[in-house]
Amino acid sequence: MQQSITNLKDFISQRIKLSGWLYSKREKGKLIFLQFRDGTGIIQVVVFKDNVTQEIFDRCKKITRESSCVIEGKVREEKRAPEGVEIDLDSIEILHLNSEDFPIQIQDVVPEVNFLMEQRHLWLRSRKQVALLRVRSQLIYAIRTFFQKRNFVCVDSPILTPAACEGTTTLFKVDYFDDEAFLSQSGQLYIEAACMALGKVYCFGPTFRAEKSKTRKHLTEFWMIEPEISFITFDKLLDFIQDYIEEIVQTTYSNCVPELKILERDLSKLDQIKRPFPIISYKEAVEIIKKNGEQIQYGEDFGAPQEEALVKEFNKPVFVTRYPSNIKAFYMKPDPADNNLALCVDVIAPEGFGELIGGSQRIDDYDLLKQRILDHKLPLDSFKWYLDLRKYGSASHGGFGMGLERTLSWISGIKHVRECIPFPRLLYRIYP
Ligand code: 4AD
Ligand code: MG
Repeated sequence: MQQSITNLKDFISQRIKLSGWLYSKREKGKLIFLQFRDGTGIIQVVVFKDNVTQEIFDRCKKITRESSCVIEGKVREEKRAPEGVEIDLDSIEILHLNSEDFPIQIQDVVPEVNFLMEQRHLWLRSRKQVALLRVRSQLIYAIRTFFQKRNFVCVDSPILTPAACEGTTTLFKVDYFDDEAFLSQSGQLYIEAACMALGKVYCFGPTFRAEKSKTRKHLTEFWMIEPEISFITFDKLLDFIQDYIEEIVQTTYSNCVPELKILERDLSKLDQIKRPFPIISYKEAVEIIKKNGEQIQYGEDFGAPQEEALVKEFNKPVFVTRYPSNIKAFYMKPDPADNNLALCVDVIAPEGFGELIGGSQRIDDYDLLKQRILDHKLPLDSFKWYLDLRKYGSASHGGFGMGLERTLSWISGIKHVRECIPFPRLLYRIYP
């Protein structure tokens, strides 16, 4: 029967069959050691000349890296092996023998990253990239489960939109419709409509930002999770985000220990990601940044150096609340205690992984929201439907957006978001 590497432990002393690819090979006299991978793991396959026919032995000598093949053999317990087992091969069938060397070598010196990015379609097969994509999949599962357990309804927001949500500087214009159109910067405005229909909702989809910044935290296409909750207060929203972060991190961590070890993640850092999380005001954050030697004036937004100075203080994500309204989005509700501040929160990751979450209480008053749209010089016509939500049964509501790749990069300890999405789109990259 066809098996997969992950469950070979249940087949000790039995004959099995696996389909996959040759990861690497080492020869030593009458022995050939094949590192064989099937997508679920990598396993050592031992070929002993005296135990196989000459033809099979020759095939094992001939097979090149990343050629596809089917192997048969007996599973043997091997405590020192990462999978706890090895295979003694008795037959191999080569399905496709590569005529050219696989472009990515396994070597001590890591190849230059631009080369790897050009080879992204092949780079995905390497041990670390496979581990990272598995963590990504588990993280998505943990996020969806979190919302499902709490009776949220998943509502998909459109990708083609007539209006900006997060400022006009990062819009991707689409030339097709008679009216102006852009790729979505955020599903938020649409799930605000959905939350007035269904109560608790979330969207999870691709998001586009024509980011002019070439940093390790910015993609031009990324995936964002955006919940929106009706009748919630700002304090309850902060409480909800704390539950959310703890649960998605701990669930992903417990489901991915082998992968995180392959990625050389310091697991003790993840052990600490539990409630309560530090919650400070923007004003307090500015003081901490200054104290830690970085320049900032009250009223300025944080860049990467300021974020790094801030998180030196914390070993957990820090919640920074109540920024000055004029450096935040048009839809954020003013703080009743001080009209110049917004009821908003940015969650900044420890260890310099940057902003994970941006969220807020939304303006629920028709006149104020209309004024803000005008103040931000946004086209009122495109927001008519959005204003309707404040005309018919308006209610307090709030939510947040979390970048999937930023969160994955933090959990996995991978410094650059370009590795955290299968096929990254960056300022200077659209291939492959
Ligand atoms: O802070 P942002 O811009 O917030 C919004 O879009 C709100 N409409 C969300 C909401 O309240 N529903 O983006 C949210 C998160 C950021 O904190 C970051 O994690 C991620 O999205 N993000 C990016 N990730 C990768 N590349 C980029 N260029 C990103 N821009 C934002
Ligand atoms: Mg933000």
